[in-house]
Amino acid sequence: MYRRKSDTFAFHYATLVPETARVLILYGGASAEKTGTLAEVRAALGSRSVHEFGGIEPNPSYETLMRAVQLVRAERLDFLLAVGGGSVIDGSKFVAAAALYDGEPWEIAEQGGANIRRALPIGTVLTLPATGSEMNNGAVVTRKATQAKLPFRNPLLFPQFSILDPSKTFTLPTKQVANGLVDAYVHTIEQYLTYPVQALVQDRFAEGLLQTLIEIAPQAVAAPDDYTTRANLMWTATLALNGLIGAGVPQDWATHMIGHELTALYDIDHARTLAIVLPALLEVQRDSKHAKLLQYGARVWNISTGSEAERITAAIASTRAFFEGLGIPTRLSAYELGQDAVEAVLRQLESHRMTALGEHRDIDLARSRRILEAAL
Ligand code: NZQ
Ligand code: ZN
Repeated sequence: MYRRKSDTFAFHYATLVPETARVLILYGGASAEKTGTLAEVRAALGSRSVHEFGGIEPNPSYETLMRAVQLVRAERLDFLLAVGGGSVIDGSKFVAAAALYDGEPWEIAEQGGANIRRALPIGTVLTLPATGSEMNNGAVVTRKATQAKLPFRNPLLFPQFSILDPSKTFTLPTKQVANGLVDAYVHTIEQYLTYPVQALVQDRFAEGLLQTLIEIAPQAVAAPDDYTTRANLMWTATLALNGLIGAGVPQDWATHMIGHELTALYDIDHARTLAIVLPALLEVQRDSKHAKLLQYGARVWNISTGSEAERITAAIASTRAFFEGLGIPTRLSAYELGQDAVEAVLRQLESHRMTALGEHRDIDLARSRRILEAAL
């Protein structure tokens, strides 16, 4: 795969951020400093006026982000540069909208972003391939005080640019690479595994992304500095949630909404919640997803023998085995969670009005219960 020289990237930062910008670099914990990415970004910004805000945690919190909002307002900053993974980028999107919001910024999350009228421009330097946040207009923030993890989106939140340098992923812990593979996989599934609408290209693209993730997974986990594999992972994760495969087709997202509650309550990594929920959801929804499950089994997993019911069972089993093979458990019990957790998640779903989920809006609380109990 063609590889650019890293000094080419420095040139890009310099041309993409206006000379007169008052920049805020946002980042997470220690990784961006340790890996040298922050130093590279600082150097590339040259003589621009630059402030920094570190400490954005995984599953970024409203409480932390509001401190960044205060800094932006106090220093009249006008360009946000997110350096990190989905959490830093999502957090920056919240700051971009909240800094210019008249009123209590948590309303942005409560209203799913529909009330955003203005936002600061954002650029991103991606260090973790997983969420697609680098090329979409969505984000998810958590209010720790109330254990609410809510998504929001708005066209004003598309990044102005994103720098995707696969070598930035070489320092990732294996666990985060596995998480990224699963997150991108489930993003694709949420937009593909619904019901047929004769969207031939969207289907083939989605199947290509799924097959690519399955193909590269072992090497992506085993060889941290295999540039080609990491480049394929990065590009696949971006394409999995940049709007392309979801254009004009039904979408599910129930796995994500139920998963968000598991993260908010039990602090389980985002992708790991998806691996718990998805196989159980496919089992419970196997009738309404019947045609697409057969197509998925045949085209992605090459399952061509047995009755239709057997083929669907095999497709779901292959999905579960893929996640488990990456060291990601697919049962609540792996986290020592049982029936109490089922009840707690259901209460959360109700209080967040997540009571009509899925492509048919038929995942009510009773069905979410069946899904969660199937995941025990
Ligand atoms: O905090 P630091 O020290 O930077 O460490 C991070 C963090 O601990 C580390 N890391 C990132 N890049 C690294 C690195 N470590 C070494 N080398 C590097 N190059 O990785 C850890 C996890 O980072 P995080 O950003 O939390 O992971 P991810 O990218 O998986 O983002 C998860 C968040 O994105 C949201 C999730 O809900 C979750 O809050 N999502 C956002 C979406 C969107 N905007 O479209 C869609 C997704 O479905 C998802 O919901
Ligand atoms: Zn996700």
